[in-house]
Amino acid sequence: MSVEENSKIYYITTPIYYVNDVPHIGHAYTTIAADVVARYQRLSGKEVFFLTGTDEHGLKIEKSATAKGLTPKELVDDVVKRYIHLWQVLNISHDDFIRTSEARHHRAVHAFYERVKAQDSENIYLGHYEDWYCVPCETFWTEAQLENGNCPECKRPAERVREESYFFKMSAFQQRLLDYLEEQPDFIRPQGKLNEISGFLREDLRDLSISRSSFSWGIPVPDDDSHVIYVWFDALINYLTAAGFPDDMERFAKLWPADIHLIGKDILRFHTVYWPTFLFAADLPLPNKVFAHGWWTVEGEKMSKSLGNVVDPETVVAEFGVDAFRYFLLREVPFGLDGDFSQTALKGRINSELANDLGNLLSRTVSMVKKYRQRIIPAPDCDSAHYQEFAGLNDEVRREVAMAVNDLAFHKMLAAAWRLVEKCNRFIDEQAPWALAKDESKAAELDQVLYCVLESLRLLSLYLNPIMPEKTRQMAVQLGQKSPTEQSGPEVFTWGRLATGVEVVKGKSLFPRLE
Ligand code: ME8
Ligand code: MG
Repeated sequence: MSVEENSKIYYITTPIYYVNDVPHIGHAYTTIAADVVARYQRLSGKEVFFLTGTDEHGLKIEKSATAKGLTPKELVDDVVKRYIHLWQVLNISHDDFIRTSEARHHRAVHAFYERVKAQDSENIYLGHYEDWYCVPCETFWTEAQLENGNCPECKRPAERVREESYFFKMSAFQQRLLDYLEEQPDFIRPQGKLNEISGFLREDLRDLSISRSSFSWGIPVPDDDSHVIYVWFDALINYLTAAGFPDDMERFAKLWPADIHLIGKDILRFHTVYWPTFLFAADLPLPNKVFAHGWWTVEGEKMSKSLGNVVDPETVVAEFGVDAFRYFLLREVPFGLDGDFSQTALKGRINSELANDLGNLLSRTVSMVKKYRQRIIPAPDCDSAHYQEFAGLNDEVRREVAMAVNDLAFHKMLAAAWRLVEKCNRFIDEQAPWALAKDESKAAELDQVLYCVLESLRLLSLYLNPIMPEKTRQMAVQLGQKSPTEQSGPEVFTWGRLATGVEVVKGKSLFPRLE
């Protein structure tokens, strides 16, 4: 086997979303962020496996299928289309889409369950649980968590339930997890989330109920099909299934452990307490990193069906365009913090940053090359002061972008790219190419001014490509350059690779101003 074939593939995941909800900007956010990382890694020359999918089992699905006169499978086959369609609309470049109702996932959950038992037969045992349960939220609550007998999340009445259930001996792994968190302080990001989980682990960890016998839409427990596996012991395994577990362990070895699980803060505990202990029990390595981002509200309010303020990403995209939407989500809020979605804020950023700063820079530059150089991109003078200055700036930008992506600091990634945008706009104003063009003796100087701005724009089409795949493709076309997606490798972000002697192509405005 060659080194290349043997090498680790960069593996990034989103949560698998519940099909009983309509996809909204929250789901779009995580998936777009993961898409940006995947696209950036591919552009930098890495082999990438980007996974998303849907979580399809449970009582809620079973109930709503019955109410509609459908089988659960018929229902999920129908609603999963909304996610698949949305990812097309949002230009998501996932490599696989996992559904927990698939046969490969059933095999994986069974194999995982057996593996956990094989490590130690006491890892899973039959017992009883008794708790409060909120059906609409599919969540168990302790007595103390209830608010006047109601679910603390949706405020509807909780039900008392007692059932026979299989348990996972999570308590046995508490100390090991605490030690692990100390050795691997980057496992949970951002830092505040690590503190939260460390705090949670100061209390005794309870064993976890992992099966149900009160409904049947799920994966049967091996050797006891009166039970189905319950929620997290089913859903979390998806990350292994898609990597080839247990069908193709050779492939699995190249993919696992995942480089990063990207999630929202609502499911932090499941990914940083349950999941690691499951993996300890199965004797499998832990993912390198779990990053929990913040929560979106809409026009200052929590999104909810009852308020009727759930933002449908497709509607926003139809009005403002997919790339402006992607840009906004990542620019507006430092990744990890909560944010608020408003049309005013979105329009503001489109007009100032996208139309004014970036779109205008491209159009004025292409117009000047057309007017002063008969469309032909001039050759560089590598010794010129301008060339050297821009090359130095780009070195900094390239490093800042790489560091920002590595930290999932998308706002910093954009801030770094914007250093080039702002530099170019200032540079054009200072150098006044329109004045240089009037003076024959300044021809060489004008060439260098145009070259530096064109080369910066080419690099911007690459830096910004992961966030705005379509607009940056149009940028490359107008600049007469190869499409960003036709190139990859660590060298793509190096200064001085602009194709010269080729023609620019004046195109339509990248981001038309909004009223
Ligand atoms: O929890 N702001 O699925 P889910 C930001 N099936 N992100 C949001 C959001 C908001 N307002 N609303 C949703 C599940 N999200 C399980 C996951 S994984 C093995 C199983 C995003 O449909 C965010 O990523 O409730 C959050 O973690 C996820 O959607 C929850 O999706
Ligand atoms: Mg949820």
